[in-house]
Amino acid sequence: MTSRPLVAVTRAIPETGLELLGEHVEIRLWDKDTPPDAAELDTLLDGADGVLSLLSERIDGPLLDRHPGIRFVSNFAVGYDNIDVPACTEHGVIVTNTPGVLTKATAEFAFALMVATARRIPEAVDYVRDGKWVTWGPKLLLGQQILGATLGIIGFGRIGQGMARMASGFGMRVLVNNRRQDPKLAAKFDVTFVDFIDLLKESDFVSLHVALAPETHHLISTRELKLMKKTAILINAARGPVVDTDALVAALRDGEIFAAGLDVTDPEPLPADHPLVSMPNALVVPHIASATVQTRNAMSSLAARNIVEIVNGRRPAAVVNPEVYDRIDRQS
Ligand code: DGY
Repeated sequence: MTSRPLVAVTRAIPETGLELLGEHVEIRLWDKDTPPDAAELDTLLDGADGVLSLLSERIDGPLLDRHPGIRFVSNFAVGYDNIDVPACTEHGVIVTNTPGVLTKATAEFAFALMVATARRIPEAVDYVRDGKWVTWGPKLLLGQQILGATLGIIGFGRIGQGMARMASGFGMRVLVNNRRQDPKLAAKFDVTFVDFIDLLKESDFVSLHVALAPETHHLISTRELKLMKKTAILINAARGPVVDTDALVAALRDGEIFAAGLDVTDPEPLPADHPLVSMPNALVVPHIASATVQTRNAMSSLAARNIVEIVNGRRPAAVVNPEVYDRIDRQS
């Protein structure tokens, strides 16, 4: 009898995925609430055929050199900047992710961050909790109006498009900056493609929906924040390092922009004594945009299904490095 493949799972993902995986492979589960450190990850991966990783695990060439048995990495996220994809391809390792299933949850959360920061909801909640509410005030906690305002979306993949769809329900004018400017998409979502600088200057809200890559690292820094309106709000539900944190702290402190709503930060997690945590015009939450029961179940099932396809000799739909199959074909 041939033994079943061994898959290291780096955190307890929702049961839907673990159950499916358990029907096809042996699971070695890291069941603590915090990620394994480097040594613990090595122990977890020892002798494994593949890994189901989270965005907190760095998967790179040296790790794969130490674990030559690894044939696949199934990332429990749509983003995969935690994985050195070229190194995986070089090692003949298939990389998969979880696109599509988290689009709605992430877009709706980015929109929620926009509403919460514009209307200063967390500040208002603190105000009441702190016993400061003594009367109605004509200038109390004045925010920025969303209906009819201009939203600038940077990055127009699935999540950016989801954001545009919601914005149209709020009667917003939507500007988009994206590498590819497709007139059909502009018509479908009723958006206008503009260049980066015009988007920053004209938008009341700037929402980031790009992947983290060398060209998007610190895409928003001092110069860009100064170009934004003083009343503008920055939303980041993409990846922390897309924004230069020090520049953002300075801009929020100096009134260069009105506020920021951040699902992601750099560093992540953000230490409790970090300036962003206590700034009244920064709303920071712990990378939870995809955190709905429905979406996390769907991510879990898809991450598992990607593995099930691979171990059964089929190609999963969500392969990040399809070119790896040329290398695998050459080797076999
Ligand atoms: C992702 O999938 O990339 C999110 O950041 C976590 O859901």
